[in-house]
Amino acid sequence: MITFWMAENSKNLNLKEILDIEKIKAVNQPIEQANGLPNECYTSSQYLMIERENVFKDKWTVIGVGSSVPNPGDAKPYNLLGIPLIILRDKENKVRVFHNVCSHRGFKLLSEPCYLKNVLRCPYHSWSYDFEGKLVATPHIGGLNIHTLEKFDKSKSNLKEVRSNVWMDIIFVNINNNEVEFKEYVKPLEDRWSKFITKKDQHLLVYSRDHGHFSLDVKSNWKFAIENYCESYHLPTIHPELNKVSNISDHYHIQGLPNRFAGQGSKKYEKLIKGNKSFDNFKNWPKDLNKKSEYIALFPNVMIGLHIDHFYTFWLEPISVNETKEHLAMYYIGENSANGKEFESMRKENVRFWKDVMSEDIKVIEGMQEGRNSPVYNGGNFSPVMDGPTHQFHKWVASNLIA
Ligand code: FES
Ligand SMILES: [Fe+2]
Repeated sequence: MITFWMAENSKNLNLKEILDIEKIKAVNQPIEQANGLPNECYTSSQYLMIERENVFKDKWTVIGVGSSVPNPGDAKPYNLLGIPLIILRDKENKVRVFHNVCSHRGFKLLSEPCYLKNVLRCPYHSWSYDFEGKLVATPHIGGLNIHTLEKFDKSKSNLKEVRSNVWMDIIFVNINNNEVEFKEYVKPLEDRWSKFITKKDQHLLVYSRDHGHFSLDVKSNWKFAIENYCESYHLPTIHPELNKVSNISDHYHIQGLPNRFAGQGSKKYEKLIKGNKSFDNFKNWPKDLNKKSEYIALFPNVMIGLHIDHFYTFWLEPISVNETKEHLAMYYIGENSANGKEFESMRKENVRFWKDVMSEDIKVIEGMQEGRNSPVYNGGNFSPVMDGPTHQFHKWVASNLIA
């Protein structure tokens, strides 16, 4: 608990107790001289608590997708490194996020996904909240059958709502309510992608209900998944099949500025075609760019794959310093491609393809985690040619630690 308190009050002081600040500064050197983040950033549970403060609470962090609460009244709990949250779809179809704690005696309100008819009722003494978080019932608060008290102002005990935003079905939260407006945050990425899709096209995305989701448990720190996703350097060694279709030289780096995202793109994306069938395309995607696809990590914890005919989000749930749950959600353009019977086997094949790719990556992510137990590893070096986007992510983390 002392760690949390100190992290709130003196970011740098606390960090200094855990690792050598000079090692963080070394990350920000030009790539030829830079080292990666030091081992403690992947092995120290105390460090993870600093990251919880400086990264996950301070930034626009992903906690799920809107399609996991598809209907008004659907609600589910989420645990962000110990912080209990509720994701709820209200009657106006808006996804809201609340702190998952009753204002009475602090019971955690929701423990599993459920459908709520009208209110969120605390299982302990039945205080109830509407979908806007308003406290609407306090049964027996004044003794048996006395449900209101003049001296108790209900309006001061509503649920605490978390600042949130849904973009391309991805739910972002900014727990400390201190980040720039979400629109501004995502604008550099939207601008980059405006050559492929318009804002209107974003609404054509439909979640695939039958083969649209999988999760993977990884024995690694969450950051390794992002670092690996940012580069195509490992294609020939780790993804030999993928490399046959689209090899290293068909890829290009993506390094967004201001530094909020990084990744890679391919110039050789091939649509899945079965006989005369293929998924629908984004309507305004230019013909001369139809073989382009982009794989971008939007910091801190979501990776996105954009193609002319499908889109996925691959987001990370940090569990502990060396355990992460990866979640993929798959989308197509229009209801027919996303859920029509005629495309079912193709959807199955497409999600299987991506699951195989992500599973191949697990062994390298876990291998890096194991390597970080070595006392002689100093954060390593980068290839100035191949590792630019990965270095950019290291710098982003470093800048949030010693800003
Ligand atoms: S703690 Fe929720 S009603 Fe008492
Ligand atoms: Fe990979």
